[in-house]
Amino acid sequence: MFYSEELVEEVRSRNDIVDVISSYVNLKRKGSRYFGLCPFHNEKSASFSVSPDKQLYNCFGCGAGGNVYTFIMEYENYTFQEAIKMLAERGGVELPKEEEQSLEARRAADFNALLLEINKEAAKYFYYQLRCESGAQGYEYLNKKRGLSEDTIKKFGLGYSNKTSNDLYQYLKAKGYKDEVLKDSGLVTISEKGNYDKFWNRVMFPIMDVHNKVIGFGGRVMGEGEPKYLNSPETKVFDKSRNLYGMNIARTSKRPNIIVCEGYLDVIALHQAGFSNAVASLGTAFTSQHALLIKRYTKEVLLTYDSDNAGTKAALRAIPILKDAGLTAKIINMKPYKDPDEFIKNLGAEEFQKRIDEATNSFFFEIEVLQRDYDMSDPEQKTKFHNELARKLLTFSEPIERQNYIEAVAKRYDISVNNLTALVNSYGYRQVATEGQAYNRTENKDRKKEKDSTIKYSQRLMLTWLVEEPELFDTLKGIIGPKEFTEEFYGKVANLLYEQYELKKAVNPAQIINSFTTEEEHRQAALLFSTSLREELSGMEKEHAINETVKKLKLNWCEVAGGRATDFNELMEISKVKQSLQNLHISINKG
Ligand code: CTP
Ligand code: MN
Repeated sequence: MFYSEELVEEVRSRNDIVDVISSYVNLKRKGSRYFGLCPFHNEKSASFSVSPDKQLYNCFGCGAGGNVYTFIMEYENYTFQEAIKMLAERGGVELPKEEEQSLEARRAADFNALLLEINKEAAKYFYYQLRCESGAQGYEYLNKKRGLSEDTIKKFGLGYSNKTSNDLYQYLKAKGYKDEVLKDSGLVTISEKGNYDKFWNRVMFPIMDVHNKVIGFGGRVMGEGEPKYLNSPETKVFDKSRNLYGMNIARTSKRPNIIVCEGYLDVIALHQAGFSNAVASLGTAFTSQHALLIKRYTKEVLLTYDSDNAGTKAALRAIPILKDAGLTAKIINMKPYKDPDEFIKNLGAEEFQKRIDEATNSFFFEIEVLQRDYDMSDPEQKTKFHNELARKLLTFSEPIERQNYIEAVAKRYDISVNNLTALVNSYGYRQVATEGQAYNRTENKDRKKEKDSTIKYSQRLMLTWLVEEPELFDTLKGIIGPKEFTEEFYGKVANLLYEQYELKKAVNPAQIINSFTTEEEHRQAALLFSTSLREELSGMEKEHAINETVKKLKLNWCEVAGGRATDFNELMEISKVKQSLQNLHISINKG
């Protein structure tokens, strides 16, 4: 179903965001905004705010944000189609009937939606096959061999792919999907030699995003065979670095943290044992986007990676990623078993809970692993280990935190607190002394990084200003336009904002969000529009800030354009712009 932009906007404008959110969250008015406890993460103080002017919501705690559509999709776990139906009804807007939609309109509908539909059909097909006679072997494997109950199999929508080489393909064809679309679904191979299913004779794990939409599959051989797991390739809707298996269920778990493990069956076994907060990355390394996804729901992660070398390495790689995202990590010891699935099969849920309670803080885990490389009975090795400890302790930049860790480590490794403190300090001095040299070496790289982020910040700031004080569009006419926003996302937003201002002499941030498709874009845009600068700056300060920002934007544009320029005249134009900046002064005659 494809709705016109006008209709989408009509439905949005008929649903006041404060009214809608009030029916889910207790909101209190404070100044120009409403505040409440965020429904998307656990919190005790209200960092969730709704702006009636901008018709947007935003949470400073977990980063959730968007317009009324985003809210309904996130809260109710609805697709866009479901959200618009609900809001249209609520706002008394009539939507066109599905039958009236032409094939043409259907074609025009979002390609991604079509891929999601195909995945859903495939999941239904596999699910059905598992319950057929030909799938008995698959059911037996899951139920008997892996000990999964009927409820669990249902809950995760597990299925079976037949031994026939192209039955799924035939099924999807019969449903009306064309080869051009099917070839991008990752489920079939379309070639001159013939069209085949990708998955044969495997038990199937549908992979869902947080809105319960099937985005891909994992398939396991029953018993031995290579490869043990076969996964859907990445497609337009399946981004492995942004999705976690089981998150659709774990996000609603009442447990205080998220358990991250390695495999599909580990997740499922944990859920079956009552640990409804388990997720897994999808046969890929843990990424910072995974960490950000988790951060929307919790602040603490428990890692239960396999207890072999590879698992330990994976844990050591994941820890800094989690820390960078502002999450705390603990590591669950599963010895003598390999993974959570085996652990629970042998020792049960209660023992696993004990292991959770005893989980090691990530810093101690890191140094425990480090210690394995040193022979502690050899004084020389022991000294080296202590030096390594000191170096690692230096990574805590907060003095109090560092001191607490020094004390804890001293106790654990039987070193005197004074000696360890002295060692850490001596490393600290050395580091300061060598920092100058290091700075010289990395100067260029760091400077570039710093510059990139300043440019990003300037563009963001300017957009926020334009939304806050649309008069600026006139003030900056001929000076700043959409082209100065060289960051891809900001450029898109700027184009839309300028277009709106041109047409209506006003901006409508919530409408802009309608035109973004990914949740990440909704979030980013909402964040952009929710920052309030009005209180932060005034008078001269503001005039100065605007002038500085304008210059930064223009200089950056000159650089970008200069890099792309192909002829002399263009370069001359750019150099003129650059020179004109010296005398540029914009006066703002408003407080
Ligand atoms: N994996 C994969 N491709 C493989 C092997 C593994 O994508 N050839 C991924 C799968 O997501 C799998 C996870 O890595 O779930 C963990 O792999 P492994 O530890 O080998 O499997 P287990 O989960 O223990 O699987 P099982 O218990 O079914 O043997
Ligand atoms: Mn296993």
